[in-house]
Order: sequence, then C-alpha cells, then structure tokens
Amino acid sequence: MKKNSVYIETYGCQMNVADTELVQGILKNNGYEMTDNVEQADVILLNTCSVRDNAEQRIYGRLGNFKNLKIGNPELVVGILGCMAERLRKDLIEEKKIVDVIVGPDEYRKLPELIDVAFNGEKGIGVKLSRTETYDDIIPYREDGLQAWISVMRGCDKFCTFCVVPFTRGRERSRSLDSVVNEVKQLSDRGFREVTLLGQNVNSYKDNQFDFADLLAASAKVNRKMRIRFTTSHPQDLSDKLLYTIAENYNICNYIHLPVQSGSNRILKLMNRTYTIEHYLKLIQNAKQIIPGVSFSTDIISGFPTETYDDHVMTLDVMREVKYDGAYMFKYSPREGTKAFKMADDVTEEIKTKRLQEIIELQQQISFEKNQSLIGKEEIVLIEGLSKKSDKFLSGRTDSNKVVIIPFDEKVTEGNYVKVQIVRVTSATLFGNYISLIDESNDELALTA
Ligand code: SAH
Ligand code: SF4
Ligand code: F3S
Repeated sequence: MKKNSVYIETYGCQMNVADTELVQGILKNNGYEMTDNVEQADVILLNTCSVRDNAEQRIYGRLGNFKNLKIGNPELVVGILGCMAERLRKDLIEEKKIVDVIVGPDEYRKLPELIDVAFNGEKGIGVKLSRTETYDDIIPYREDGLQAWISVMRGCDKFCTFCVVPFTRGRERSRSLDSVVNEVKQLSDRGFREVTLLGQNVNSYKDNQFDFADLLAASAKVNRKMRIRFTTSHPQDLSDKLLYTIAENYNICNYIHLPVQSGSNRILKLMNRTYTIEHYLKLIQNAKQIIPGVSFSTDIISGFPTETYDDHVMTLDVMREVKYDGAYMFKYSPREGTKAFKMADDVTEEIKTKRLQEIIELQQQISFEKNQSLIGKEEIVLIEGLSKKSDKFLSGRTDSNKVVIIPFDEKVTEGNYVKVQIVRVTSATLFGNYISLIDESNDELALTA
C-alpha cells in the first residue's frame, strides 16, 4: 500500500496558513490525503515560524512529542516547512535527527519529490529562495467556509533591522492581478463571504501598471456581498489612492492594520522603519478624514536595543493618540543574521516584561473605551456560526473586525449579514441584540454600511 497520509500543523502568521493550503493543494495533486489524526499519518509536516525565539522553541517542543511515534513507526517521515526550515536549513537535520525533510517557502513544488526521497531513507532538502516563484498557477486546497486567505505577494524588501522575514521569505514578488481576482471569483462561487488579501507589505504590490489599490478595487468588484480585508500595510507605502479606494468600495472593510513598532523616532531609525512618528500620525489623520469611522490595529515591540524609559513613554503616547482598536504586542527577540542582532540586547528581560505589561494594559483600557462608545449603536455583523462558548448564542464580526455575540435566533444562519444593536461590551467582545436581517437582494448592505 502506498504511504500517502499527511498530517500538517501550522504556526506563525496568516501567510503560513495560506501556504499550508498551497502545500495541501500540491500534495493532493500528487495523490496524498490529509488526516487530522497524527498517529495514523505516514508524513507529519510542521509549517513553522522564526519571527521570535519562542516561536522556534514551540517547534522543538513539538518535535520532542513525535519521538515516540517515530520509535513505534520508524518509516514515519517528519518534515519542517516554512520560515524555520529556511533559516536553519541543514543545521536542523544535524541537530534534530528526527527530521527527514526540510522545505523552505519557495520550494513547495518539490515537496512530493522530497517526501519520496525521505521514504527511501535519505534526507529531503529544498531551501533555495526564488525571485519569481508566486505559485500563481496552483489552486490552494480549502475546505468550504466563510472566510479565506489569499496571498497576493511573497517576500519582503524592507529589512527592518529586527526582522528575519526578508531572510526566510526572500525578495518581494507579486502575483498577477488576474490570478488573484480569479481566485476571489472561485471563492465567491463557492459561497465564501470574506477574503483577506495577504502580503508582508501589500502596499508594494505591483503587476505591470496595477498597484495594490487597483487589486483591491478589482477584488471588491467581484461580489459586493463579499467582504474584502487586507494585511499588512507598511506606513511608508500607504497611498492616498489606497485610502480613497477603501472609502469608495463599501465592501472593503474600513480597517487598517498599520504596525507602528515604536513611538520614538530614534528607535524607529534604529529599526530601519523608514518613517517618523510625525509621518505616521499624519497618515492616520489622513485616513480618518478620507474613511469616516476607520479603525486601526498595530504591532508594537517593547525593549528594542537601547530603548529608554522615555522612548517607551513615547510609544504609550502614540497609542493614546491613535486609539487603536487592537494591537499585537511583543517583547524584542534577537534574531541571528539581522542587523539588530549585532546590537547589544541591553534592555533586561525584567524591563522588557514590565514595559510590555504596561503596553498591554493601556491597550486593554483603550479597547474597552472604544468599545463602550459603541453601546446603543447599530452594527452590521457577518454571522460566522454558534458562539464557541455556548450554542445559545451566535458569533460574528463587524466590518472593523470586532467579535459580536448575539442571542441565538432561528431567522439567522451562518453567512448572513445581520443588523445588531450593541448593548454591552468588554475590551475584547461586543454583545448585541438582533434587529433585522440585511436584505441582500435590495442591496441594503450598500445603504447601511
Ligand atoms: N510584515 C508584517 C509582519 C511582520 S512579523 C509587518 O511588517 O508588520 C509581525 C510582527 O512581529 C512585526 O510587525 C513585529 O512587531 C514583530 N516582530 C518581528 N520581528 C520581531 C522580533 N525580532 N522580536 C519581536 N517582535 C518581532
Ligand atoms: Fe519584517 Fe519589516 Fe518586512 Fe514586516 S516590513 S516583514 S517587520 S522586514
Ligand atoms: Fe513567522 Fe515567517 Fe510569518 S517568520 S511571522 S511565519 S513570515
């Protein structure tokens, strides 16, 4: 019997989630089947992340768990995909004997061949980066659902000094506008209600004369009942054209993830972020003017080399000024090979933790206040299904990506747009009451959004 059962776990960012679907597409075309049962798998793949040390430590822990499986089944193939495969390459095999296959983000086409190499008792390694690979012609494997990720470009040319991504994902390259729009069409035909266009820096998207605003507009036109989201935007490259495109297309969500990283110009410079706080705040102001009601989320790093208490306070000040709806907040983690790695990691762990804690607490307070201002207001919610905590409630999200819980109602099913009145909030969740179903045949969505 051919060994063809594959189990995959995915770590890291949404790009990895999208890549796992790509890998599943490639494997299925080559006769493999996916399984959710790790103990029955012939091949175990981990799609990994290198962005911070703790992301890599989790993978080492997970590999430890598989040792017994391999002892029970010496023919089991264990593979590492993604950013850690690219960063550590052969070292990973030398260090971790359990690993048979190492494949970086630009060599997934070779995966079936490299798994065969491993079935024959050799190590299968593919870690070359490419300047052109976009997997444009490969259809990712997706279960039916409401929400999908579409990666529209790969790689990053920004070289922020703390970041491994340019090393693990290589140079920036974009898919063709046509292939992305076709993918949106296919998802629309299958009943998907929301797509998120993905790239490390989507604002650098380029396909001949088309830029990212053109791609967003073309994607939004496919089906006006489908929500379009995108991530991530770099503050240097976010254009007014993009802001107007969001404002003009009601099904492009009024929500921008715009990582600031730090509130101090001195630190931003050391990070090679290529913008100043003044530029950043101007951009935010601009966006608020062009897109009424727009919301923002951000990424923040605490304890970058040489960060002083004053630098930290500047970060808190920016948070208060922008009033982010949400934030992803991290302690600085030195990554070998990056420019910042050569700087002394001189903020102690204790201070990093303390500053991070202050950042998290401030964000919770801001999120809570922002949510409180929504009490009594009406929101349009795309219902995703029963609430995770109780089947007496339904859960969905607003245009600004906030989770809303409403009491179960027989008139409402998964995938419906519903008008809801917000009655109660926490810093993370809105609770509301059902008002009415949005009449899509009437294009009520356009009128009320
Ligand atoms: N391209 C995206 C995502 C990059 S990784 C962007 O530019 O925003 C996601 C976030 O991880 C980054 O925004 C940054 O806040 C954080 N990050 C990256 N490298 C890090 C490091 N070495 N230590 C701590 N946080 C890091
Ligand atoms: Fe990393 Fe900066 Fe590129 Fe984002 S823009 S992936 S933080 S190098
Ligand atoms: Fe991690 Fe690679 Fe994404 S390092 S954050 S999986 S691009």
